Amino acid sequence: MDTAPPCAFVIFGATGDLAARKLFPALYQLHGSKALHPETAIIGYGRSDLTDEQLRARLEEAVKRFNGSFSKRKWKTFAPRISYVRGSYNQREGFDQLHERLSGLKLHNHLFYTATPPETYEGIALRLGAAELNKSSGWTRLVIEKPFGHDLQSARALNRTVLGSFQENQVYRIDHYLAKETAQNLAVLRFANTLFEPTWNSRYIDHVQITMAEPMGMEGRGSFYEEAGVIRDVFQNHLLQLAALVAMEPPARYDALSVRDEKVKVLHAMTCIEPEKAVMGQYIASEGVASERLDGYRQEPAVAPDSLQATFAAVQFGIANWRWSGVPFFVRAGKRLEVKASEIVLQFKRPPHTPFTLTEKLKPDRLVLRVVPNEGITLRFNSKTPGQGIELARVSMKFAYDEHFDRPNPDAYETLLHDVMVGDATLFQRADEVEAQWQVVQPLLEHWDRGDKEPEFYLAGSRGPKAATEMLTKQGRYWHLPGKD
Ligand code: BG6
Repeated sequence: MDTAPPCAFVIFGATGDLAARKLFPALYQLHGSKALHPETAIIGYGRSDLTDEQLRARLEEAVKRFNGSFSKRKWKTFAPRISYVRGSYNQREGFDQLHERLSGLKLHNHLFYTATPPETYEGIALRLGAAELNKSSGWTRLVIEKPFGHDLQSARALNRTVLGSFQENQVYRIDHYLAKETAQNLAVLRFANTLFEPTWNSRYIDHVQITMAEPMGMEGRGSFYEEAGVIRDVFQNHLLQLAALVAMEPPARYDALSVRDEKVKVLHAMTCIEPEKAVMGQYIASEGVASERLDGYRQEPAVAPDSLQATFAAVQFGIANWRWSGVPFFVRAGKRLEVKASEIVLQFKRPPHTPFTLTEKLKPDRLVLRVVPNEGITLRFNSKTPGQGIELARVSMKFAYDEHFDRPNPDAYETLLHDVMVGDATLFQRADEVEAQWQVVQPLLEHWDRGDKEPEFYLAGSRGPKAATEMLTKQGRYWHLPGKD
């Protein structure tokens, strides 16, 4: 990565979970690879009463824990960049102090990052505007974390507030899935090769599957999840973004304007997710499925004992345009499932005629794109088995990043923080894009927000609700087993 221009990098919520797990480990990594300019200063902002030294000591522990390549020597050169400002997210005093600190630093470029609870985003944008921190003698950028809004209406309101203080080209709405290497590689696979794109349509593709399976439970995020549930947590953003990258038309150029224009067009063509085309689930305690006993969602801290919140969803939707008409998209995600695996599967149609005498049904070709973990791409197809006569077997052509390249993939946050500092918004969402995503999930949210339906319960550590499996088998289709080639 090139060295980014110098800036004052302000992190709201510097003592929080996201800053500890993702932002500081990524900045530390960028510092180590010299992608962070030597003059760049990091200002942590938070409500706790801390000195610079106390914040640095906390962050040292966090970086040790969440960045595999910690070294004391490197930390000693990184830590002096960090200082602290104490303040609230919606009152003037803290922002005045921040203003003073920034004036003292004499750095022309200012970057503000909201690593805070979603309900603070509006206040932060307003206060930055009121303190005239929405402009500087260089560039000023505001990074907003997900979830961006709680539904379509609140996302529109948030956009209005943010755009009251900032120009759209100053705003970076983050979705870390866009910086996953396989997600970025989708455009390359499709548009830098001649092999795939001609078959990438309803003539050859039977259906598309997108899965995000996670073995983790709440990990201390129970109160957030009670509000969000699976649809707001990962469908409205990560999964619809992956779907948009699979389905968009070729952009004229690979830049923020063209790529986001194409994504918005295809998001507008997606049919809204209707409640009857969705299976919602919630995990319950299990004794035997995983090796240890796992609590159910309702036993998680800060979760109501009778909560109806969904921790799993499998949905079907379509895309009403020339390329995708009649091709179903099946998308599912869940917590406390058997494996960790985010992947995209394109299943091709069966050949119109097979000249072989088959002992069993011919399996369809599948292209599997692994987003997390073991990033890479596998093509599953039929082959002749060696020996006399024609017997068929399923074989794979496999590309794995870690086998092919001699350096590990960067963490998504490293890529994104660097992109903000160099001013590349291609992997960030535009105002109309987030709103289009809310539009797709809105009917499902309205249906479930009423709180009068019970999700289907599934055992923690299992493969999820039975009805999700049946959703496909009823149609003569079957889910790809996550994590398996
Ligand atoms: C976050 C969600 O956006 O993505 C979490 O809020 C989820 O619930 C996480 O666990 C998964 O990210 P990754 O990169 O580990 O697949």
